[in-house]
Amino acid sequence: MINFITLSSLLLLVPSAFGAAILRRDNGCNGWPSVGIKDNNASFELWAHYESRVTVPLALTSFSNDTSNGNSSATKAYLAPDDLGGTVIASLFQLNNSGLVGIGSPDANGVNATWISNSVDTGGSAPFSLAADANEAGIADDYCEVPNTDPHGPLIDGPLLGVMGSTSGWAICNRIDIPLFQGVVFNPASYSSSYGFNFTTCQNVTIYLRSDALGNLS
Ligand SMILES: *[C@@H]1O[C@H](CO)[C@@H](O)[C@H](O)[C@H]1NC(C)=O
Ligand SMILES: *[C@@H]1O[C@H](CO)[C@@H](O)[C@H](O)[C@H]1NC(C)=O
Ligand SMILES: *[C@@H]1O[C@H](CO)[C@@H](O)[C@H](O)[C@H]1NC(C)=O
Ligand SMILES: *[C@@H]1O[C@H](CO)[C@@H](O)[C@H](O)[C@H]1NC(C)=O
Ligand SMILES: *[C@@H]1O[C@H](CO)[C@@H](O)[C@H](O)[C@H]1NC(C)=O
Ligand SMILES: *[C@@H]1O[C@H](CO)[C@@H](O)[C@H](O)[C@H]1NC(C)=O
Ligand SMILES: *[C@@H]1O[C@H](CO)[C@@H](O)[C@H](O)[C@H]1NC(C)=O
Repeated sequence: MINFITLSSLLLLVPSAFGAAILRRDNGCNGWPSVGIKDNNASFELWAHYESRVTVPLALTSFSNDTSNGNSSATKAYLAPDDLGGTVIASLFQLNNSGLVGIGSPDANGVNATWISNSVDTGGSAPFSLAADANEAGIADDYCEVPNTDPHGPLIDGPLLGVMGSTSGWAICNRIDIPLFQGVVFNPASYSSSYGFNFTTCQNVTIYLRSDALGNLS
C-alpha cells in the first residue's frame, strides 16, 4: 500500500458510497503544470487504449437505439466506445467546478446540454446524468488526470483518466441485453452482470485525454 499511497499523494481519495467513486479533478492535479486540462473552458475527448495498443474514441451513449428525433430523450448516459454503445449523446468533455462534464447537443436555444458525472461503482459503468447547471458537477467527485507513466504510459500520448487513486481499473465489456453494445466498466467482476455487463468479455483499457489544449489531437 505504501507505493499506492505515494503515487496517490497527488490524488484526493474521496470515499463516497462503499466501492464507489465519482469523477473529479482535485487540487493536486491542478498543481501539475505540465499535464492535463488547465482551463475549464477547454474541451477534450476521452480515448481507450487496449492492451493490444488499439485505441478507440469514447462517448456518452444511452445503451439504446432510440434515435427517434436524432436527439436522445435519455436522462442517463454512460461511457462507451462511440460506435458500440447505442445513440451517442456527447463526444466532448469539459471540466466545470472540477467535475467531469459531457457536452451534449445544443437545445432549441443553442445551449449545449450538460451531462455531469455521477458515482462510479466498482464493477459498474461510468454514468452521467443530465443537469440544468454544470456547476453541480464535481461536488462529491473523485476524478483526476494522472501523468502518463507506467505500465502503458510511454505508449500513450496523453494524460490518463484515474479514479479511486488508480488508472488501471478500467475495462470495456459487452452488454448482456444487446451483446453488440459495449460499455466502460470500472474494476469488472462477475457481479458486473447486475449492471448489465458480461464479465467474460471484459478487456482492460487505459483511458486518456486528447485535446487541442493538450496538443495531442491529431
Ligand atoms: C479560456 O479561459 C482562459 C483563461 O482561463 C482564457 O485565457 C481563454 O481566452 C478562454 N478561451 C475561450 C475560448 O473562452
Ligand atoms: C439495437 O442495435 C443493435 C446493434 O445494431 C441490434 O443488434 C439490436 O437488435 C437493436 N435493438 C433494437 C431494439 O432495435
Ligand atoms: C436536435 O435538437 C436541436 C435543437 O432542438 C435541433 O436544432 C437539431 O436539429 C436536432 N437534431 C436532430 C437530428 O433532430
Ligand atoms: C456544443 O457542442 C458542439 C458539438 O455538438 C461543439 O462543437 C461545441 O463546441 C459545443 N459548444 C460548447 C460551448 O462547448
Ligand atoms: C460551469 O457551467 C456554468 C453553466 O452551468 C457556466 O455558467 C460556468 O461558466 C461554468 N464554469 C466554468 C468554470 O466553466
Ligand atoms: C485486468 O486488470 C485487472 C486489474 O485491474 C487485473 O487483475 C487483470 O489481471 C487484468 N487482466 C488482464 C487480462 O491483464
Ligand atoms: C457472455 O459472453 C460469452 C462469450 O461471448 C458468451 O458465451 C455468454 O453467453 C455471454 N453470457 C451472457 C449472460 O450473455
